[in-house]
Amino acid sequence: MRIIFFAGKGGVGKTSVAAATGVRAAEMGKRTLVMSLDVAHSLADIFDLDKELLDRNQGRPFKITDNLWIQEMDIQEEIGRNWRQIHDYLSGLLNTSGLDEVLAEEIAILPGMEEISLLLYINQYVRRRRFDVILLDCAPTGESLRFISIPTTLEWYMKKVFRLQRTLVKVARPLAKRFYDVPLPDDDYFKAIEDLCERLKGVDQLLCDPGVTTVRLVATPEKVVLKETQRAFMYFCLYKMCIDAVIMNRILPSRVTDAYFQDWRRGQAINLRKAEEYFHPVPILPVNLFGSEIVGYESLKALSARIYGPADPLDRFVTEDPYRLIKQDGHYCLRLKLPFVVKENIDLSMISGELILRIGSYKRHILLPKQVASRTSVKAKIEEPYLNITFSGGAHE
Ligand SMILES: Nc1ncnc2c1ncn2[C@@H]1O[C@H](COP(=O)(O)OP(=O)(O)O)[C@@H](O)[C@H]1O
Ligand SMILES: [Mg+2]
Repeated sequence: MRIIFFAGKGGVGKTSVAAATGVRAAEMGKRTLVMSLDVAHSLADIFDLDKELLDRNQGRPFKITDNLWIQEMDIQEEIGRNWRQIHDYLSGLLNTSGLDEVLAEEIAILPGMEEISLLLYINQYVRRRRFDVILLDCAPTGESLRFISIPTTLEWYMKKVFRLQRTLVKVARPLAKRFYDVPLPDDDYFKAIEDLCERLKGVDQLLCDPGVTTVRLVATPEKVVLKETQRAFMYFCLYKMCIDAVIMNRILPSRVTDAYFQDWRRGQAINLRKAEEYFHPVPILPVNLFGSEIVGYESLKALSARIYGPADPLDRFVTEDPYRLIKQDGHYCLRLKLPFVVKENIDLSMISGELILRIGSYKRHILLPKQVASRTSVKAKIEEPYLNITFSGGAHE
């Protein structure tokens, strides 16, 4: 079983790269599913399919070739399949609160429902061994980060809130009925949540197992895009997911020598070098800007050849996490595997939320999550083969 996430900023080429990887994996004989998590679905367009065909398919996997399927989620269908009781309660609640019925139904689609539905599918496909490979065409960065945080949030909710809430509602219902005109959820609602969680069991381990799941960040060599990619890199690490490649897309080919593009070429070269510094040891897979839009099977096949060359796209290009952020005794500790490093050569500084680590000529920029960036003291300690950087002090102490 192999799962690969394709994530990155909007418009950088996530859908194209995910679809191209799917084409190659299917041609290698693997039963492959490319799933879209972006509400602005474009998988069907990239395969040049009739959108109506897909709509009629009601959000189920749609067969492209012998071994290749695509799936674009349809939240309305998912509500019928997975969310009936929860949606009914919420829309009822909003309706009694004075909202128009149609609007209430619309609003009762909570953020996260679509993502959880997708996780349910992944878990079900893995349990039933329906596919060999699942490729996820993610939504732009912010939303995909919310997606990967869902299993953790749910676990927290189930442990800390759910049972208490259920008991409270049971106790309070008779009283609430008398004084309060807002309906409280009945036990079906809680059962539905419990059932969803049961069906999600194991998906978090699956996503954090580098033997199964890796993340590929798609980027372009532009300053703004790199910033966002760095951020995504840090956060995926934070959620213990293994990033095994950065696909650097839309690089101007060397034969484009027109003076008009001179600044673009210079900027791209600088940003490519920076990217190597930022993401080392994760390999950067460069991809040229094509002469035209990438649409249709053959075009995607050409793109997969550009991305992976003769390599197997299902390989793990990195087997170990570049770093881990852990919380120990109230302090955050960033642990990097850096064998052979000598303390005297280490130089640490923090500038606007970014940690700059210099070891001789080696330099790494690590964008820190907010709660860590606000710390005032940074200390490094070597515990071969790791370098541990501890953050303390600041507003929280
Ligand atoms: N290397 C490339 N050369 C030319 N066009 C590209 C390349 N990569 C992506 N595109 C085009 O850029 C547009 C956006 O790509 P898409 O994969 O939809 O991005 P995303 O999913 O990240 O929003 C599409 O029209 C696609 O054909
Ligand atoms: Mg897309």
